[in-house]
Amino acid sequence: MLPQLAVLAKILCLLMVVMCGAVPAMVRSVSLYSTCSSGNVTVIGRAVKAVGRDDNNAPFQKLTTQSEDFSGKLYIFAEKSQRYICFNKRWKLVGLPKKQKSPMCQFYEVYNGSYLRYRSVADGVHYLGFNKWGKPMRNPNGRQECFNFIKYNPHFDIKHHNSLVTSNMATEPRLVVRKPALIRAPKKFLPSSDGGRETHRHRHNRWKIREDEVSPRRRHESRLLEANKY
Ligand SMILES: *[C@@H]1O[C@H](CO)[C@@H](O)[C@H](O)[C@H]1NC(C)=O
Ligand SMILES: *[C@@H]1O[C@H](CO)[C@@H](O)[C@H](O)[C@H]1NC(C)=O
Repeated sequence: MLPQLAVLAKILCLLMVVMCGAVPAMVRSVSLYSTCSSGNVTVIGRAVKAVGRDDNNAPFQKLTTQSEDFSGKLYIFAEKSQRYICFNKRWKLVGLPKKQKSPMCQFYEVYNGSYLRYRSVADGVHYLGFNKWGKPMRNPNGRQECFNFIKYNPHFDIKHHNSLVTSNMATEPRLVVRKPALIRAPKKFLPSSDGGRETHRHRHNRWKIREDEVSPRRRHESRLLEANKY
């Protein structure tokens, strides 16, 4: 299908959904990075932990957040394992199949500074959290940063992003989390002209580069915020 047609079809679909108020369910694909364990939330069968990504566990880090209405209550679903992240009766985090879905598997997504937290709907004292070894937190009064997360969209398409940036879009898509260098790189390869103009351009570029050296940090921070907003 032509890309334009595909876009039109999507818009039509969206319009129909909005008009009928048919499907309140929102499903979003994410990875959750636990700041305390420096790993992503990983659900393998019943086990829920936060570990670094590798080839084997990457599919188990693919999560979706699902809401059934506009109450703000979310389920966190692990696609590969087909399990929901839930608390058990002793407030330990476990992966449970759909038939055991309950309010113990529902969370409110709240901000803490620029980080996200997932507070249990069943009991607001409890939050999703992982210690520095990537094990689920048992003590809700434990180290506070262990309850903080950064949300990534692993299916973000960098080519699409670049095409948006180069077509001079003023605002960036909100899901950006990676590799700002890729976007700026082409600047260095500007075709150079001759003579006195070249020295001018050099000076100009040097200034530009220095400017870029200063900003990535700030950029990174704002990116974190942007990522979290999503
Ligand atoms: C977490 O997941 C994101 C998105 O898939 C990925 O970019 C990042 O490298 C992962 N981080 C770790 C520590 O596994
Ligand atoms: C936010 O974080 C601080 C310190 O980490 C903690 O004391 C506070 O209770 C948190 N707030 C919420 C709403 O979680």
